[in-house]
Amino acid sequence: MRFPVGILPLSAFLLAACGPAPQAEVDTTPLNGREIYATRCVSCHQADGGGIPGHCPPMVGSPILAGSSDDLIQLILLGKKGPIARNGVTYNGVMPAWRYDLNDSQIADVVNELYARWQPQRAAISPEAVQNIRQSLVGRQPFSDSLPK
Ligand code: HEC
Repeated sequence: MRFPVGILPLSAFLLAACGPAPQAEVDTTPLNGREIYATRCVSCHQADGGGIPGHCPPMVGSPILAGSSDDLIQLILLGKKGPIARNGVTYNGVMPAWRYDLNDSQIADVVNELYARWQPQRAAISPEAVQNIRQSLVGRQPFSDSLPK
């Protein structure tokens, strides 16, 4: 079935004016930690937290997750690279820096998601804790960590 071309702009106008909300509208729902992990972290660290042996280290049994939450926040903000060994496997990939992509509450949410899944005894952290670390890192280059290897 064909419509005369002249009808199209008019019908587009009518749809925009009184039709249902367009599908392409931007979703402004805040991401929770589970969604952030599923969209920003899962390709490397995997849904089960097992990582990709030789490429991306596992969350399961990670000494960084077991260690200081300040170090973990710093790692997520600044990223990290350089060789590490986990469970007898060497990793020398690049953990991206997230400081321009995730805000304080999103980073707190994803840290709390990591804790809930792989360090369930840990207390949740607050967006204010992320804000403090973020401020302490102003001027620091990405990957300039001083974290445990
Ligand atoms: C492009 C792949 C990639 C993505 C995406 C990624 N990471 Fe990583 N991540 C890595 C690599 C590689 C390392 C190891 C870096 C090194 O050599 O120390 C790492 C290290 C880590 C560590 C420390 C693990 C350990 O035992 O040393 C944590 C925690 C972590 N990432 C969390 C996250 C979170 C949270 C996200 C999502 C916001 C994320 N990663 C997204 C690749 C990635």
